[in-house]
Amino acid sequence: MNGSHASTSTVVRCRVNGQQVEMLVPVRLTVAELLRDRLGLTGTKVSCQMQVCGVCTVLVDGNPVSSCATLACDLDGAEVLTVEGLAQGRDLHPVQEAFMAANALQCGYCTPGFIMMAVALLQAHPDAEAAEVREWMDGNLCRCTGYAPIETAVAVAASRMRGQT
Ligand code: FES
Ligand code: FES
Repeated sequence: MNGSHASTSTVVRCRVNGQQVEMLVPVRLTVAELLRDRLGLTGTKVSCQMQVCGVCTVLVDGNPVSSCATLACDLDGAEVLTVEGLAQGRDLHPVQEAFMAANALQCGYCTPGFIMMAVALLQAHPDAEAAEVREWMDGNLCRCTGYAPIETAVAVAASRMRGQT
């Protein structure tokens, strides 16, 4: 065997926003393509496709990953959380509420990525200080809002999630 008959598709089994997913996918399919094109979860955005802008950030087992640069076949057994999975019914996640309250978005294209990164940060470090927020958000780019309202939103969400407001 010289490998020329290697399979070009594989079955991936994972959970996406709490729902079990089992699907035959091309081995080169990205997580972003799986989410957007196969599952219709278009809240996750795509821009650079080079792992430099952060708009495609989703959580895999609680860790932020660039879905444009992660293969769907590597999700086997994983728990995936996208922006669609944050709200509980009609109740937005505190990070989503804080982004709205702090006017931390304009066009909104970067927003799902920032929100998912903020959720990961506040799960790992509920007491994150401004410097840590900046460090975590370093790989997320926004072309129109500016970063100050975004940092404010994360701080507001952090204190709300700690039960301080
Ligand atoms: S589209 Fe994935 S990092 Fe830019
Ligand atoms: S709100 Fe437009 S790119 Fe960030």
